Amino acid sequence: MTDMELTEAIRTRHAVRKYTDKPLEAEKIESLVKAIDNANAESGLHIQLALNEPKAFSSGILKYGAISGVKNYFVMAGKKGRDVEEKVGYYGERLVLLAQTLGLNTCWVGLTFKEIQDAFTLAEGEEVHCVIALGYGVDGGKQHPVRPIEKFVEADAPLPDWFKSGMEAALLAPTAMNQQKFKFLYHGDGKVTAEPTSSLTGKSYLYYDLGIVKCHFEIGAGKDHFVWA
Ligand SMILES: Cc1cc2nc3c(=O)[nH]c(=O)nc-3n(C[C@H](O)[C@H](O)[C@H](O)COP(=O)(O)O)c2cc1C
Repeated sequence: MTDMELTEAIRTRHAVRKYTDKPLEAEKIESLVKAIDNANAESGLHIQLALNEPKAFSSGILKYGAISGVKNYFVMAGKKGRDVEEKVGYYGERLVLLAQTLGLNTCWVGLTFKEIQDAFTLAEGEEVHCVIALGYGVDGGKQHPVRPIEKFVEADAPLPDWFKSGMEAALLAPTAMNQQKFKFLYHGDGKVTAEPTSSLTGKSYLYYDLGIVKCHFEIGAGKDHFVWA
């Protein structure tokens, strides 16, 4: 994927909750599987692709949540912990953007799905963090309201253009319930920090969201312009 393709994918991606019956083409499955293998090797996550498995989002006449017609999804499995959660967000969103460049639609799902035991395997100490619905949407979804970047930034130095582009990309990212509870700090000298803006108790989506927005920021800003401090 080129940076241009990824930037375009960031602009066109929206959460899609209704899917058609159209199956995924073999060559698209192949690129997704290759990307999953690379992501797992790099991150230590245990991401898997469930194909032709309709039960996670429905059982008979029952539907789980507002999501329908899903037969394919990424299973975002891995060990526990905040650092793992951030990786789930980061590597999951890379897959979301790859899917978008392939003409597929997605939706991150934290709650409204059922774990179907024969659709994935877990090693000792692993859990399913989230799934990401995947397929051909009935439509492409719609843009969430875009908020001004100033609300999400603290800076010790004037903001360079690459930082602003990074923020624009971050604000287009999916977050759980569109909560966007993050801020980016610019320290000057190409040093950037990103962190959640609310404190945590128990199960939370803040670190998945953080990984997701950091993925977008890197693409928008260009990785050569900065380092995570
Ligand atoms: C970690 C995470 C969990 C999510 N869980 C759900 C979910 O359980 N059900 C759902 O319908 N949408 C879920 N979403 C989708 C968000 O509601 C959606 O991304 C957000 O409203 C922003 O809209 P957009 O993706 O179209 O930009 C989740 C998103 C993230 C990042």
